[in-house]
Amino acid sequence: MKKILTGIKATGQVHLGNYLGAIKPSVELSKSDKISSYLFIADSHALTSHVSFSQLNQSVYEIGATWLACGLNTEKVFFYRQSDIPELFELYWILSCITPKGLMNRAHSYKDRKEKNIKLGKKDLDDKIYMGLYNYPILMSADILLFSPDEVPVGQDQIQHLEMARDIAGKFNHRYKTDLFVLPKAFLRDKSVVLGLDGQKMSKSYNNTIPLFLDSNKLYKLIRKIKTDSSSLQKKKDTNSCLIFQIYKGFASLEEIDTMKKLYAEGIGWGEAKEILFHKLESYFKEKKEIYNFYVSQPKQLDKLLKQGAEKVRVEASSFLKEIKKVLGF
Ligand code: TRP
Repeated sequence: MKKILTGIKATGQVHLGNYLGAIKPSVELSKSDKISSYLFIADSHALTSHVSFSQLNQSVYEIGATWLACGLNTEKVFFYRQSDIPELFELYWILSCITPKGLMNRAHSYKDRKEKNIKLGKKDLDDKIYMGLYNYPILMSADILLFSPDEVPVGQDQIQHLEMARDIAGKFNHRYKTDLFVLPKAFLRDKSVVLGLDGQKMSKSYNNTIPLFLDSNKLYKLIRKIKTDSSSLQKKKDTNSCLIFQIYKGFASLEEIDTMKKLYAEGIGWGEAKEILFHKLESYFKEKKEIYNFYVSQPKQLDKLLKQGAEKVRVEASSFLKEIKKVLGF
C-alpha cells in the first residue's frame, strides 16, 4: 500500500488555495484501494500565530467539517488532530537535536519575518519572532516522519518544508546508521501557485484569501475585489496573467476552460469574467456547503471522529517511536 499524509494548519478559514493544494488531491487519492491516507488538522502548529482559545477551536471544527464535506471517508482514512498525538512532540525534540540551526535560518517564513524587521528599521532582527515559528519545519517533519508516508500532497508554498523534512530524515538515518525514516516526496497537483485577491500567493498570512464556504453575498463581494489590469472592453485579454482565469481553471472542466479562453480572446469584460467565476464557485461548492454546514454545527460528532482517528494512529505512532528510541540508546 502506498501512504499519503497531509495536514492543514488551524488558523483562519480554509481557502481555495488549501482546497486545490491539499484537500482536493488528498481526497481523490484517498479513494483508491491502493492508498492509505493520513489526513490531519495541525492545531499545534496554529500556536505559532498566537490564536485565542475560541479562534483555535473554531478553526479546528471548520477544517474538520471541510474535510468531511469534500469527501473524506473516515472509515477508510486516518483522520485526526495533531495535538492528540503526544508521540509527535517527543519525536519533535529528537529531530531538533539533529537539525542544524543553519537549515532553519533558511526557512522562508522565518526569513520573511526577519526581512519585515529590517524594513521596519528594528535593531533586533529577531524582534517578536518566537521559537515556535523558527522550529515550525521541525514539528512538520515530525508530523510526516512518524508515519513514513511515500507522498505528501501540499501546495507550492510547502515545498521547502518538505525538502527540510527529507534533509532531517536523511541526517538522522546517516547519524544513527539506520534506514528507519522514509524520505518523503511532495505530491504537487500543479506547479502553479494559487494566487490571492491581490495577486500575491493566496495565504492566510497575506489576508488575501477566498474562503471555501462563504455565503453568496460575501463570495460575490470578494470576487468583485479581485485585482485586474485596466485593459478596456473588447481588447483581447491574456489568460495567463489573469487572476480570475487562474482561479477559474482550478474548478472548471476542460471544455469550460476552452470556452473561457475564447471569451478572453474576444475581449470579455472583467465584470462578466467575475460573474462566470462566481457562478462556477457557487455551483462547484453547493452540495459540499450543505454537508459542511451540517458538520460545523456538530462539534461533538467531530470530536468523536477525531478522537477515534487519533486512537487508531497512536498504535502505529507509539510502536515506531519505540523503535526510534531504541536506536538512540534509550
Ligand atoms: N504547514 C502546513 C500548512 O501551513 C500544515 C502542516 C503541518 C502540514 N504539518 C504538516 C502539511 C505535515 C503536510 C504535512 O498548512
